[in-house]
Amino acid sequence: MKTQKKRIGVYPGSFDPLTNGHLDIIIRASKLFDLLIVGVLKNDSKKALFTMDERVEHIRKCTKGMENVKVEMFEGLLVDFVKQKGADTIVRGLRAVSDYEYELQMAMLNKHMSQETDTIFFMTDIHNSFLSSSVIKDIAQHGGNIHGLVPEEIVDDIYAKMKGIKTAKL
Ligand code: PNS
Repeated sequence: MKTQKKRIGVYPGSFDPLTNGHLDIIIRASKLFDLLIVGVLKNDSKKALFTMDERVEHIRKCTKGMENVKVEMFEGLLVDFVKQKGADTIVRGLRAVSDYEYELQMAMLNKHMSQETDTIFFMTDIHNSFLSSSVIKDIAQHGGNIHGLVPEEIVDDIYAKMKGIKTAKL
């Protein structure tokens, strides 16, 4: 009997920080694969608020108990990471039409660089369609309420980071 190849998907992003929108995509995508790897981009040119370790830790905390979800950092080209992990599918979320152009370009570039790699898109849940890591940082920085917008497990961490930044500026 032929053994079936394990289906491995990669959900890449900056996750600075993880939002409820990201987590919803992780939960939904994990049902499609034997293994879903959340790939956190280590990108020195894009200044992140949270360190790589903090971002990875946030996602691990929020996906605890999801047996087939693994969190790893990657650098360099996404398609190389995908191949290295034995995956053939990239997962991304689409919010509004405004996401489409960038996502289409990225999916086409990745396909051009690696013919065996496909990108699949999840339509972001309507309740999360207005969320982004940037707006979360903006709200938290100004003392607004981020409960319900990011997983409860990381709310305190986000506020603590903002407080640290404000203190450092004094
Ligand atoms: O959460 P983000 O910042 O929208 O995620 C963007 C990400 C990490 C998916 C994208 O920047 C990426 O894949 N970067 C790795 C470098 C790469 O492969 N670039 C070529 C494709 S655009």
